[in-house]
Amino acid sequence: MIQVGLLGCGTVGSGVVELLRDNEGTIAKRTGKQVKLKKVLDKDTEKCLALGLDKNMIAKDFNELVNDEEIDIIVELIGGIEPAFGFIIEAMEKGKHIVTANKDLIAVKGQEIFAVAEKNQVDFYFEASVAGGIPIIYPLKQSLAANDIIEVIGILNGTTNYILTKMTKEGLDFADVLKEAQELGYAEADPTADVEGLDAARKIAILSSIAFNSRVTLDDVYVEGITAITAADIKYAQELGYVIKLLAIAKQENHVIQTKVHPAFIPTNHPLAVVDDVFNAVFVKGDAVDEVMHYGRGAGKMPTASAVVGDIIDIGRNIIIGANGRIGCTCYEEKKVLNINEMSAQFYLRMMVKDRPGVLASIAGVFGNNNVSLATVLQKEATDDMAELILITHEVNEQDLKDSLAILKDMSIVGGIDNVIRLEGINR
Ligand code: NDP
Ligand code: HSE
Repeated sequence: MIQVGLLGCGTVGSGVVELLRDNEGTIAKRTGKQVKLKKVLDKDTEKCLALGLDKNMIAKDFNELVNDEEIDIIVELIGGIEPAFGFIIEAMEKGKHIVTANKDLIAVKGQEIFAVAEKNQVDFYFEASVAGGIPIIYPLKQSLAANDIIEVIGILNGTTNYILTKMTKEGLDFADVLKEAQELGYAEADPTADVEGLDAARKIAILSSIAFNSRVTLDDVYVEGITAITAADIKYAQELGYVIKLLAIAKQENHVIQTKVHPAFIPTNHPLAVVDDVFNAVFVKGDAVDEVMHYGRGAGKMPTASAVVGDIIDIGRNIIIGANGRIGCTCYEEKKVLNINEMSAQFYLRMMVKDRPGVLASIAGVFGNNNVSLATVLQKEATDDMAELILITHEVNEQDLKDSLAILKDMSIVGGIDNVIRLEGINR
């Protein structure tokens, strides 16, 4: 029998309890032995009891789980850095295998955790930490392992994808949709990590490390959220044949890595353009496989529990044949990660300018002097003596664009630079 200790009877933890119980027979057959939940721990024991668990399964503290020699696997679903980090390290040092969904922890402490796992020859699995129920970590480590990965582009945050979808379909502004999403329970009371792009940044740090075999942490990821996106930007994107999505992007060229999270115009014929509402997707390009896309629910009780229990089953199989530690840390190289100012992109710019002769030439001159080449220029809705300009650049260096905008914003003919959004997925 494979025995499991569970930390956390919250959203995902309760899903794990239910799935282990509801699919007990299938799970036992696929693992090769019965998988039994032995003990659970939560600050609030009532949460665990409400799941129909026996009173003697409820632990008083972590020691009860970690010192129980019959427990093979500890499933950490309490979230956050501490005490989760300390619990995981102690458990691995006592020979326990770990399953977690904790992206916050892996994105900053991955290296230390993998070192302890390797030293103790235990499994550390974390499929649910990126894109909930969507299989992406195991596929990158196993099914796609023969490829040099060129890029990984994900819609990795359900809350922001729901907000942008609603803004696109109903022509609403960000603040109105966020309020509605919070009332419906789709967005958290404090939505900062989601709408500012941090949640997606943690996830792309994890995927980059695996895809490119080199440690990428949260600090390496350039992050911009969706709070500045307006209904006007979405309308112009549609007019020009694009949709706006919050993308988490990781690319590798000549052994140099780029990682960034930002809203982006993507062409309506890109596979990620049709990923709507709370759904997530991860688009991977490998040198042998070419394009692959993984799509599904990136969060929620049962989709996330599906990934957690899948990990438990695979560790169980490893235990049975004595093969734990088979797929350890994949970060065996040290590659440079570019700073945002060293990267390049195509940009959409929306700005108010004086509506009079010579203005366009002056603006084009500033861009030209800073190596920024323009691909499209549209003049929209003049109000009094002002006009709205929509510009799309060719691919330009980020620093060159910043230099141009710093000059333009102080020019008397410029009323304001209202938004700057990158384009992505154009040349596939
Ligand atoms: P919840 O807040 O619903 O559940 C966590 C539970 O753990 C709560 O009951 C909490 O109690 C308890 N807890 C927290 N700290 C301790 C502690 N020190 N000792 C004992 N119990 C503790 O979180 P989720 O289930 O939503 O998330 C769990 C993990 O899964 C997180 O790492 C999250 O990022 C990840 N995840 C979640 C997804 C989702 O859809 N919810 C999707 C993908 C990943 P209390 O509430 O009293 O603090
Ligand atoms: N808050 C996340 C999202 C789910 O909106 O996708 C947990 O990773």
